[in-house]
Amino acid sequence: MKTKIGIIGQGYVGLPLSLAAASAGYEVLGIDSDTKKVSQINSGNSPIEDISNNEISAMIKSGSYRCLTHVDSTFDAEAILICVPTPLGSDHQPDLSYLRSAVESAGKALKQRGLIIIESTIQPGTTRDVIVPILEKMSGLSHDQFLVSYSPERIDPANKTWKISNTPKLVAGLTDEAAQKAKAFYSKFINQVDICDSLEVAETAKLLENSFRLVNISFINELSIFCQKIGININDVINAAATKPYGFMPFYPSVGVGGHCIPVDPIYLASAAKEAGAPTRFIELADQINLEMPNYFVSRANEILGGLKGKKVLVIGVSYKPNVSDVRETPVASLIAGLEKSGASVSWHDDLVKTWNNQSSVPITDQYDLAIIATPHDYIQLSKLGNTPVLNTRGSK
Ligand SMILES: NC(=O)c1ccc[n+]([C@@H]2O[C@H](COP(=O)([O-])OP(=O)(O)OC[C@H]3O[C@@H](n4cnc5c(N)ncnc54)[C@H](O)[C@@H]3O)[C@@H](O)[C@H]2O)c1
Repeated sequence: MKTKIGIIGQGYVGLPLSLAAASAGYEVLGIDSDTKKVSQINSGNSPIEDISNNEISAMIKSGSYRCLTHVDSTFDAEAILICVPTPLGSDHQPDLSYLRSAVESAGKALKQRGLIIIESTIQPGTTRDVIVPILEKMSGLSHDQFLVSYSPERIDPANKTWKISNTPKLVAGLTDEAAQKAKAFYSKFINQVDICDSLEVAETAKLLENSFRLVNISFINELSIFCQKIGININDVINAAATKPYGFMPFYPSVGVGGHCIPVDPIYLASAAKEAGAPTRFIELADQINLEMPNYFVSRANEILGGLKGKKVLVIGVSYKPNVSDVRETPVASLIAGLEKSGASVSWHDDLVKTWNNQSSVPITDQYDLAIIATPHDYIQLSKLGNTPVLNTRGSK
């Protein structure tokens, strides 16, 4: 008989993970509170680009995977994984409400010796100090009667090289037994699983990974402003520096970081650091520079056109990174808002996103005063712009 596992949250992280575990021989119950998404998945339609309809249908047909809207008292799984959002609230601070609610559901279904694995990004100490007490309360068990592990996800949407199976996975446990059990679970479908010394090490490692990206991208974005001022292309500088075979890693310019992780996770670290009395000033500065980038490009557009009032501007690519349709936390939203505030009439083209904020993607034509390349998807043909002036946020002189 197959080992049954539950995975709460069937989004960019939980759905690929569910299918990977199902392919490895587990019987996977995916749980998602979004009823529309659950029926979409159960009818074989993928809600994300990286997973095809065929992959979902094949797993459903084989009986290895199905999706439910909630965990009930009959739910009987050996392990429950939690992959729900951990965003920032309207105060730009960590919002754990989805996580708390998912942990409460998992707690109700938790059995003696059952394993809970948290994959959502969280602050150091959250598994031990927030999650374990909720599990104890909801299950009526004490922490030595169940197993708790933290294992940060490392999904990179649209990455064709690094998939679940070949991306090393970190795990940590409240106890050594929990860490070993989590390692055994993942080892069925991931080549390398490394155990961290403590839950807090694994939680902080995830925040370090994403803060490293935010700090470096913001640094390059700040430097790109300097390069533009002195008339050189930042990409030429990065490519020159990248010929050094050690001690340098290239990062490239943009309107800013976006998505569910890079703009969000560092704030989890900064807020924990502030609480501990050891502020992470690099992160705070990087966050500030990141949030200023859209306005920098509004001022560049203003300079190029000698004023934006009444000018027709086409923004090309609105998702947060090339070749994905995800618009969560996209910095292009602030770019468009800034252009409109300055009086420009803004249209956007993005045939991966198609519709967004009640507007639709328009074709690329030469009928605009300015085109701003925000997110250059591979499919985009810039030749259709003809002689339209172009502002390239990905690096220009
Ligand atoms: N997507 C990425 O590339 C990425 C990268 C790094 C970190 N993360 C982290 O992974 C976690 C999950 O992110 P994601 O991108 O998969 O999010 P997502 O929004 O794509 O998916 C989360 C899913 O959880 C569901 N959900 C929310 N609350 C629920 C509840 N209480 N019970 C059941 N379902 C619930 C939502 O309906 C949604 O379908 C977050 O902590 C995020 O920061 C994601």
